[in-house]
Amino acid sequence: MTSKSPRHFLDLDRFTGATLREVLDLGRALKAGEVGADKPLAGKALAMIFEKPSTRTRVSFEVGIRQLGGEPIVLEPSGTQLGRGETVADTARVLSRYVDAIMIRTTKEEKLLELAEYASVPVINGLTDRTHPCQLMADVLTFEEHRGPITGRVVAWCGDGNNMAASWVHAAARFDFELRLATPEALRPPADVLEWAEAQSGGRVVVVPDVEKAVEGADCVVTDAWVSMGDDIGDSIRRHNLLKPYQVDARLMDKAKPDAIFMHCLPAHRGEEVTDEVIDGPQSVVWDEAENRLHAQKGILLWCLES
Ligand code: CP
Ligand code: NVA
Repeated sequence: MTSKSPRHFLDLDRFTGATLREVLDLGRALKAGEVGADKPLAGKALAMIFEKPSTRTRVSFEVGIRQLGGEPIVLEPSGTQLGRGETVADTARVLSRYVDAIMIRTTKEEKLLELAEYASVPVINGLTDRTHPCQLMADVLTFEEHRGPITGRVVAWCGDGNNMAASWVHAAARFDFELRLATPEALRPPADVLEWAEAQSGGRVVVVPDVEKAVEGADCVVTDAWVSMGDDIGDSIRRHNLLKPYQVDARLMDKAKPDAIFMHCLPAHRGEEVTDEVIDGPQSVVWDEAENRLHAQKGILLWCLES
């Protein structure tokens, strides 16, 4: 057990912009092969708890920790006592005796916070119903690779005010850019997230209900699923009806800057939030974005574990 507080990676709003830059720079240096060849996490184990499905998060963390010399251990609730009612706190205490870090993808944010409170090793948020910070680190890395510094630029979020939208709000404040949120009124990000953004000195978060206005002159257009993993499936038809006008198609992309990029965390629901023409088109950077999960997360792992 370690005696000092572990370096958790829970949400972007908990960090200064300078610290997030440090983590992002690590990811960039790892991608460029400037660091990491000496297997800096040799002998370290990462437990990964998945209470929801995943392709990118699972594979990129698993490959990432291996590339850094460490070992992943994947835990599905159905195969652990967590799935039979062992508390999150007790699971945190026990796992901390075996592994050096824990990544969790879960439903309620409270579970993530409970895990972090009782773990004596770093805890990483691999998505909750409320946020998805690892994805945003990859997204900022991708934006900057394609279009240079994100500071002062304009990003238009089109669609559901979900966990990705909330993390974009955090990112706008911390990386100091303008985020325009084009969401139906009933599907805005939580009020406390928007109030938090208003109280920050960095960035600018504006709700722009008219999706065409939101996209006008934007440097980046971004969207995500209309029905997320934490949403009630019975509510799908209402969501589809509300979100239909926010679909990112070629006509909408044309309102953005001519060199605007299109981003999506994936998985995409083609023909719903985005058309084939856009996601497969020349402005789409979604495959680079998916690749960058690997590099950004290696930066996060190193930052959490090398302190
Ligand atoms: N973007 C993302 O987190 O994808 P997965 O659900 O496949 O991990
Ligand atoms: N908003 C989506 C993101 C998936 C990576 C979900 O939570 O299902």
